[in-house]
Amino acid sequence: MRGRLGRLRPAGLRWRLAGWFTLLALACTAIVFVAVYRGTGTQLRQQIDQETAGDARELAHNLMLAKARTAKQLSVAATRYIHGQPFSASSTLLFALVPGQPTSTNRPELFSPASPDNGETTAEQSHENRLATHLLSAPDGYTTVALPDVGDLRLLKNTVHVPGGLRVTIGVGEPLAAVAHAQRGVARAFVLAGSLALACALLASYFLGARLSRPLRRMAAVAARVDAGDLHPRIHQQGGQGDELKVLADAFNHMLDRLTDAFAGQRAFVADASHELRTPLTVIRGQLEVLASQRDPSGEEVRRVERLVQAEIARISRLVDDLLLLAKTEQTEFLRIEWIDLVPYVGELWDGMSLLASRRFELGPIPPGTLRADPDRLAQALRNLLGNAIEHTSADRGLVRMRVEPFAGERIRFIVEDDGPGIPLDQRERVFHRFHRTDAARDRASGGTGLGLAIVRAIADAHGGAVSAGESPEGGARIELELPGFTAQSRPDGTGQAVWAGDHATAATAERG
Ligand SMILES: Nc1ncnc2c1ncn2[C@@H]1O[C@H](COP(=O)(O)OP(=O)(O)O)[C@@H](O)[C@H]1O
Ligand SMILES: [Mg+2]
Repeated sequence: MRGRLGRLRPAGLRWRLAGWFTLLALACTAIVFVAVYRGTGTQLRQQIDQETAGDARELAHNLMLAKARTAKQLSVAATRYIHGQPFSASSTLLFALVPGQPTSTNRPELFSPASPDNGETTAEQSHENRLATHLLSAPDGYTTVALPDVGDLRLLKNTVHVPGGLRVTIGVGEPLAAVAHAQRGVARAFVLAGSLALACALLASYFLGARLSRPLRRMAAVAARVDAGDLHPRIHQQGGQGDELKVLADAFNHMLDRLTDAFAGQRAFVADASHELRTPLTVIRGQLEVLASQRDPSGEEVRRVERLVQAEIARISRLVDDLLLLAKTEQTEFLRIEWIDLVPYVGELWDGMSLLASRRFELGPIPPGTLRADPDRLAQALRNLLGNAIEHTSADRGLVRMRVEPFAGERIRFIVEDDGPGIPLDQRERVFHRFHRTDAARDRASGGTGLGLAIVRAIADAHGGAVSAGESPEGGARIELELPGFTAQSRPDGTGQAVWAGDHATAATAERG
């Protein structure tokens, strides 16, 4: 454990947080980048399409109004219009083709199938020729073609029918270079701003992580000290209600408080147990020393010492049994829950106990029904309570009474009362502590171990019940053991039905002697 805490790296959280934060910022930037990059492209392309459509409309309109009657006149009008355009020839392509006439265009080098002009190679010229064929044979509508010198070109081709039955194919092209250029600009801006934002995110998240993990590091330090055996340190965490770290710190402190109490309790328990064991051992040793000091002890003396030693050994055995039982109550498999048929169960237990001493034993009516409980443990608890009542009442005339009462919420109460001296008000909680005895009980030097009621409480707790001390109507002690799991009918299989109709279903008063 110490090794594990030692390996706790306080910087881990900071870097992990910074890493995740940066990754998140990167992903967000990438998404925004793709959106802006594509949005810019789409918008510019739409703008270019609108421009080409406008140019094509204007050209078509002009040719309609040209009043050409022959193909030649139409071709001449087209050439005039195209050459009269203020466009710079490098940015826009315009052509018009009247069947049977040469192509009118502002890029004549593309459409003249002549020999290579101004320093062009044959390969370049043949490429241009192929391109011209491609431009002219492209279907009506928008296409994208690659032009030498210009790059990608957005081309709109239309066939226009001029009044007089003439037909002319017109084409308008705008370079797409502006789109690529704008997108490159967007990418550059994103790389620049993105790197800056990422650096900021990394830095901010690192410091945020450091800030957030500071209380955790403090807790780890405290845990390490506790691990080393010092239970005193506590975590002082500021924060309002609902603050997770404050909740964690409080839970941690609470756990330490409980651990401290548990350790103290355990130490006290071991000390008390040793003390309780030492008393009978001292008696045994003393008696044996007395016997040994006599040169020739009488038979009667030997028997007296033997009786005493046997009694002390019995006391030690009881104590050890009780201690073992109490230790077991901490285990999860302490109980073996069964369906208990209440009437015969209480009846048998009562009969067994009332044979042990001569008292005025009174048993109230037992409610028929079943109880989900561990029969052995419950019997032990009830025997402890009845044993205490017997022990604290006078022989013959002392009253020992038990009542069994069901009440709301499927719960049941076992009430054991007597007319003895009772338990003083200020001791009614403490009698359930281990080894606690009231002063009157100490004077009496009874054979009890001081663990009886502690065992009753442990059994009640294990069942989810409770036990408390009070005063009986006669001024003696009254102990109430309350358990859940009572059902007011017999067992589901009906086996309990025949049994509960016995004597104990009605009030029974027994006086034994
Ligand atoms: N019926 C009772 N009347 C008076 N005092 C009681 C009664 N039952 C328990 N006590 C007090 O509670 C103490 C604890 O009881 P218990 O745990 O059974 O230990 P023990 O019986 O071994 O002394 C007793 O020592 C006694 O002082
Ligand atoms: Mg007792």
